[in-house]
Amino acid sequence: MGKSENELIKLIIKLVNKSDISSIKQVVTEILKIIKDESSSAKDLRNIVEKDPPLCAKVLKLANSAHYGYPKSISDIQEAIICIGFDAVKELALNQKVCELFMKEDTTHGFSRLSLWKHCSAVALCCKMIYRREFRERGDNIYVAGLLHDLGIIVEDQFFREMFEQALKKSAQEGINLYIAEKATLKIDHAAIARTIADDWNFPDELIHAMGLHHEPTEVEEEFERIVFTVYIANYICQREKIGYVDAPFRDVNLFNKCLSSSGIKAKAMDIIVEELKEEIKKLDQMGWFIS
Ligand SMILES: [Fe+2]
Ligand SMILES: [Fe+2]
Repeated sequence: MGKSENELIKLIIKLVNKSDISSIKQVVTEILKIIKDESSSAKDLRNIVEKDPPLCAKVLKLANSAHYGYPKSISDIQEAIICIGFDAVKELALNQKVCELFMKEDTTHGFSRLSLWKHCSAVALCCKMIYRREFRERGDNIYVAGLLHDLGIIVEDQFFREMFEQALKKSAQEGINLYIAEKATLKIDHAAIARTIADDWNFPDELIHAMGLHHEPTEVEEEFERIVFTVYIANYICQREKIGYVDAPFRDVNLFNKCLSSSGIKAKAMDIIVEELKEEIKKLDQMGWFIS
């Protein structure tokens, strides 16, 4: 590529901020504000939902689905938000923007944006389950961290297609994980790209670390261990269970176990979460979640 890392980072930020990817910045910032602010109401959430017609349609579709079993049909957005629940609507709002970016039926060397989206949704779900079950915590940033951890892959696919394809090929041929191959072909990997963007968008520090260290969690400072280890664990599980796209087929079981024990998570407890995750994914599949 012949560019220094600094120049490359500047170029990436410029390209991303001029593209459709930057639409994620606004929705994530707005939703994180609502998550943090205890006094936010259904009205604040309605304002976000109403600005986004495809999201509006999804919220109404979900509220009227058999899953919630309401006897009458719901056509009012605020009513639909109350019916589905605040948390689910926030997740839906985040998912909607991210999934719009991933909706491209274009497969190259086993990679497709659709399957990456399924992977990212599953990692987000798994992260949330770990926080709730194991830490009894909601975790303001954890769902977004799971959903966006592989954002750098989209950036590579969009702006550096040729080098990205080389990395995919190299990873398959040499039996190495994608992020290692990327360092050779692009001189930067997708985790570092994600970290750069999150930093430029003024995302919370926790989120920047979780996105940037999702393949190399041991480099984390103590303060961010919980979120970084959780994203690593969830990412590992989704790859092992082959839910959606697999960017790191060569897994380090020792590192996985280390993250589990440092987080105080027992192997048995993790098995229960995995079973629950698979059930949830099955339900989402049946609802057509990963298609439109
Ligand atoms: Fe990754
Ligand atoms: Fe991943």
